[in-house]
Amino acid sequence: MTLIDGKRVADEIKAEIAAETAAMEARGERRPHLAAILVGHDGGSETYVAHKVKACEQCGFRSTLIRYEEDVTEAELLEAIGKLNADPEVDGFIVQLPLPRHISEQRIIEAIDYRKDVDGFHPINVGRMSIGLPCFVSATPAGIVELLDRYDIPTRGARCVVLGRSNIVGKPVASLLMQKAPRGNATVTVCHSATPDIKEITREADIIIAALGSPGFVTADMVKPGATIIDVGTTRVADATRKSGFRLRGDVDFDNVAPLCSHITPVPGGVGPMTIVSLMRNTLLAARHEIYPAN
Ligand code: GUN
Repeated sequence: MTLIDGKRVADEIKAEIAAETAAMEARGERRPHLAAILVGHDGGSETYVAHKVKACEQCGFRSTLIRYEEDVTEAELLEAIGKLNADPEVDGFIVQLPLPRHISEQRIIEAIDYRKDVDGFHPINVGRMSIGLPCFVSATPAGIVELLDRYDIPTRGARCVVLGRSNIVGKPVASLLMQKAPRGNATVTVCHSATPDIKEITREADIIIAALGSPGFVTADMVKPGATIIDVGTTRVADATRKSGFRLRGDVDFDNVAPLCSHITPVPGGVGPMTIVSLMRNTLLAARHEIYPAN
């Protein structure tokens, strides 16, 4: 069994990006600038955004964090987005999800200029990705295909089972893996809460991508020996032995599944660091106008 070390791969890619940033500055170009809007004080969102800001530092990027309290109105957020859209000093920005219930996430996402949508959540980027056109690919799916590629795990002709159909992970990763492209060409099945007999489906899989947010969902009896398992789950569970009072648990029963696998990602240290680094790469692409031409 090989443990897929997402942290190591992410550190390598960050070093590559930092070298590119240094080369841009040496040419007298402005360094990439990522902005993030964070609403409220959800522990998970605070941590993710802090990691994004730190990754910007490691890549030599400028970052700006814009905070709002939980009671911010949709109109205030839309105004902030309008300013970031118009700011020539900002190459890309994200609005950390989830948002409070009184705000329409979809309206917020659609207000972001798709040319600065480094999360790849805008319908233009989602649509372009699904038909194989250049676009900002959302960070977690991009990180997953990068890991499979770097560990030489073939996707061509592989049976991939995606557990979960979220707009952020399940749908886009299924779309990428089925593309007629070097990192695609898989036969993809997506399972969700209305799928009967999931075990029968996962047992046939060469690659399982678990993105349900259900700790320990994938058990050993669901896995074909020699399969590759990518665990996207990061649920906080109580742990009195930790200073924080919690630990992160993935969607896979790691201890019992790992011995069966050819490759498996740990939680934490697997997909998470790759998500952040994919966001950094999208920001670099935005700064260089490599996906969409400058205005
Ligand atoms: N919430 C969970 N994952 C993500 C992500 O990749 N981007 C944003 N903006 N919010 C998230």
